[in-house]
Amino acid sequence: MNEIRITRPDDWHVHLRDGAALAAVLPATARQFARAIVMPNLRPPITTAALAQAYRERILAALPEGANFTPLMTMYLTDNTPVEEIRRARDAGVVALKLYPAGATTNSDAGVSDIRKTYRTLEAMQREGLLLLVHGEVTDPEVDVFDREAVFIDRVMRPLRKDFPELKVVFEHITTLEAAQYVAESDRFTAATLTPQHLLYNRNAIFTGGLRPHYYCLPVLKREQHRLALIQAATSGSNKFFLGTDSAPHASVLKENSVCGAGCYTAMSALELYAEAFEAMGALDKLEGFASFHGPDFYGLPRNTDTVLLRQEKWSLPESVPFGEALIKPLRGGESLGWKFIG
Ligand code: DOR
Ligand code: ZN
Repeated sequence: MNEIRITRPDDWHVHLRDGAALAAVLPATARQFARAIVMPNLRPPITTAALAQAYRERILAALPEGANFTPLMTMYLTDNTPVEEIRRARDAGVVALKLYPAGATTNSDAGVSDIRKTYRTLEAMQREGLLLLVHGEVTDPEVDVFDREAVFIDRVMRPLRKDFPELKVVFEHITTLEAAQYVAESDRFTAATLTPQHLLYNRNAIFTGGLRPHYYCLPVLKREQHRLALIQAATSGSNKFFLGTDSAPHASVLKENSVCGAGCYTAMSALELYAEAFEAMGALDKLEGFASFHGPDFYGLPRNTDTVLLRQEKWSLPESVPFGEALIKPLRGGESLGWKFIG
């Protein structure tokens, strides 16, 4: 029997939502991961240290009995985040701020309209040791949707890195060859997260036999050459790349709709999907570094000490699961998977 045992991983990018949705999805993340970086794009967004603290309390209250899980809180950067809020954030245990270019994705209307407006806040973050997590897409309607990440590197990332060389920046859920190369060549203050869907699929997945809304996320899946660059980066052993599922649940009625929300729900089989992607490269020996070491090392946090077991075993992911009053369809729901998280 084929099994692998690795140090318990963390999810360095997840959407846990709030209320009944939070209660529905949190157990899946807490089952596989010891910690997770929790995205702040609620409605209204988590823009202050006090809101982040209250959200952390709601997450802790929604945890199943006996769960051993620590949410790592983030704050939503706006054009007007006060400089003084950064000290309060640090004191409240907030570890990072998330930069959403205004209008780039789900609940991002309060995001940053021009990064120069945030420079005094970024200076404070660099000083206080808070990380900047970046949704790296321009929102310029003139730029083709599939080019928005590559254009972001030149228009925003390079100037940002030059102006704040010691700010730790995570280029979140990268989807292109250009981003993988940029991160690989950057210094130790820049890293990237990779989602399971961007390691496993190219953009054909969205259009196979019809329009498949559950494969639609942002940044959108790209061509095969990009997927190959991403899986090579993930399995290279480089400590600049680590696990961030971007598990982003939306009720299935809102995915199977004339306007489909962006996001793939992967929390129920996250490690299994990563194992599948790494196995296809013959690189299962690189999974532990990617899933369990590179993230905490970059964030300056201790590595976990317990372990989890993954077994090569066929099982079927349910087609849908309850999501408050609604249903949610996990990515690959109703299909069989070749790896199983045993715990
Ligand atoms: O696909 C995505 N879903 N990308 C994001 O950036 C946001 C996320 C969400 O919150 O649903
Ligand atoms: Zn996300």
